[in-house]
Amino acid sequence: MKFTCLASLGFALLLTVGLAAAQSSQPAAPPAAADAGAAAAQMALARQIVLHGSPQGAHACATCHGEQGQGRIKAAFPHLAGLPRGYLVRQLQHFDVLARDNPSMQAIAHKLTSTQIDALATYFSRQVPPPIMPPATPPPALGTELALQGRNAVPACVTCHGPGGRGLGGALSAAFPPIAGQPAVYIERQLKAWKQGQRPPGPDGLMGAIAKHLSVAEITAVSQYFAAQPTLVVASAPEVKP
Ligand code: HEC
Ligand code: HEC
Repeated sequence: MKFTCLASLGFALLLTVGLAAAQSSQPAAPPAAADAGAAAAQMALARQIVLHGSPQGAHACATCHGEQGQGRIKAAFPHLAGLPRGYLVRQLQHFDVLARDNPSMQAIAHKLTSTQIDALATYFSRQVPPPIMPPATPPPALGTELALQGRNAVPACVTCHGPGGRGLGGALSAAFPPIAGQPAVYIERQLKAWKQGQRPPGPDGLMGAIAKHLSVAEITAVSQYFAAQPTLVVASAPEVKP
């Protein structure tokens, strides 16, 4: 019952976003020199804040997320590199209005203007995600089951987060971010935050509904699974098809 409900919500969303993408895919005009200049200025603005912080006092992102947004696994700081622009903008807005809980990020987002948020989201979305080392021990079977098949009321995570949790690509990614290779502790904290209503449930309330159906043991297992997934598929190691 509930499974059908959550899964169909996801598919309805996939369809809506997909249609919007199709409608907006008109041929783009050739970029004018002025556009190229504006894009370069936007990157320069982002790099300034990433390395030195903002004039309004937002801390330098590089301190915690790294210069290219590589994150810090041991400190459970998520990587931002390669996350979709639209997703990053939405998160910074949620921190700004205190809807997503994290005192450091709330203070930082509050000091950023929407122009700066746009520039930073564009900058990090264009970086290459950090390579993830294969784990010494395989992730728990419970995590693998949840991720690939779903369990009880919860649809398979890969339905919305793409193969290996690397995202669905294109316009869909803004709604459904990649989650592969994020620190396990970070993923766990997000799922618990949704369970406790401390993070906005996001598009169509999907993650709020899903997290409420996960037990603590399932949260730990599925977090370990995605933390162990490579962010990029290496050409020399083709994926084994089930
Ligand atoms: C003091 C350390 C620190 C600094 C400096 C910092 N961040 Fe963060 N950031 C964090 C932590 C910790 C989290 C995870 C918060 C959570 O658990 O919800 C985070 C999360 C985020 C997220 C959400 C990522 C996701 O996958 O949902 C974004 C976006 C972000 N930070 C952007 C920035 C930007 C842009 C800057 C610079 C202007 C910045 N951060 C500076 C510590 C920091
Ligand atoms: C029906 C679609 C759907 C399914 C299935 C789904 N998710 Fe999500 N997930 C989303 C959406 C939409 C977001 C973006 C939420 C937002 O914008 O804050 C998201 C975001 C996330 C994030 C936040 C990433 C970050 O960088 O902070 C994590 C972690 C996550 N999901 C884990 C899972 C896990 C684990 C499962 C399986 C148990 C799962 N998801 C199943 C739709 C889904």
